[in-house]
Amino acid sequence: GTTAALMISTTAAMAEGETVGFAQIGSESGWRAAETALTKQQAEERGIDLRFSDAQQKQENQIAAIRSFIAQGIDAILLAPVVATGWDSVLEEAQEAEIPVVLLDRQVDSSDELYLTAVGSNLVHEGEVAGEWLVNAVGDQECRIVELQGTTGSTPAIDRKTGFENVIAGHDNMEIVRSQTGDFTRAQGKEVMESFLQAENGGKDICALYAHNDDMAVGAIQAIREAGLAPGKDILIVSIDGVPDIFKAMADGEANATVELTPNMAGPAFDALEAYWADGTAPEKFIQTESRLFTQDDDPMGEYETRKGLGY
Ligand code: AHR
Repeated sequence: GTTAALMISTTAAMAEGETVGFAQIGSESGWRAAETALTKQQAEERGIDLRFSDAQQKQENQIAAIRSFIAQGIDAILLAPVVATGWDSVLEEAQEAEIPVVLLDRQVDSSDELYLTAVGSNLVHEGEVAGEWLVNAVGDQECRIVELQGTTGSTPAIDRKTGFENVIAGHDNMEIVRSQTGDFTRAQGKEVMESFLQAENGGKDICALYAHNDDMAVGAIQAIREAGLAPGKDILIVSIDGVPDIFKAMADGEANATVELTPNMAGPAFDALEAYWADGTAPEKFIQTESRLFTQDDDPMGEYETRKGLGY
């Protein structure tokens, strides 16, 4: 009762007025835009002064942003690392300045001693869930799959590919026949899908598309439609994120399944920072968010509206 209330207000007071820098990747996808919006909202609710930097998908810009946060002497840094490698020096600089770094949604190859914690999903598992959905959907039927990969060198692209491949490896009727990056964007998803369709008999030889995010799937859906095929029927579509537009496509029968990734990474990140500021409590090195599969049977229109209502 009272003690708990007191502890909560002390913790909240610890966050009040703290300054946090957010080295964001950019706004390549609807999911990323939602993550940015929720981070700003979470900061405001907790009285945290958030300094936001958009790196336009460039690692060098993220590194420059972190150096500028360090120079400003802020209290913590949130980093969504665009790629996995190349972070050692700047993370060491933050550590020397005693500024805790929390990773959001993607991982780095650096030692985990260089950051306080990482909030994210099990990215390999996401790929497995997508693969399992497709295995069940096609049964014994022969299935030629095309894959749209995320940003080259990013952990979601690497791990989502691995997870999916792990699952279909045991099924001789399933094969990835083409795989290329669409950089997590709608425009490139459409463009690369057009080239896949052309190379695969106008799309008639493609059974399914696996896209590492919903935005690329949404771009690809348009390409499939323009090629005169029915997305979601002639070509099955499974992707990852759970953004409003994919639920809309699922409600229209043009997409089949998505694995949800919560865009609220900042909530658990700020909780961990508040505990750390309050009494030095060190969080676990990995705070895992949930991954859930949604199909056309899961009231896609309702899911669409819920997310819209939350400001995605
Ligand atoms: O790191 C998470 C991924 O980044 C999301 O799945 C994708 O939409 C975003 O660009």
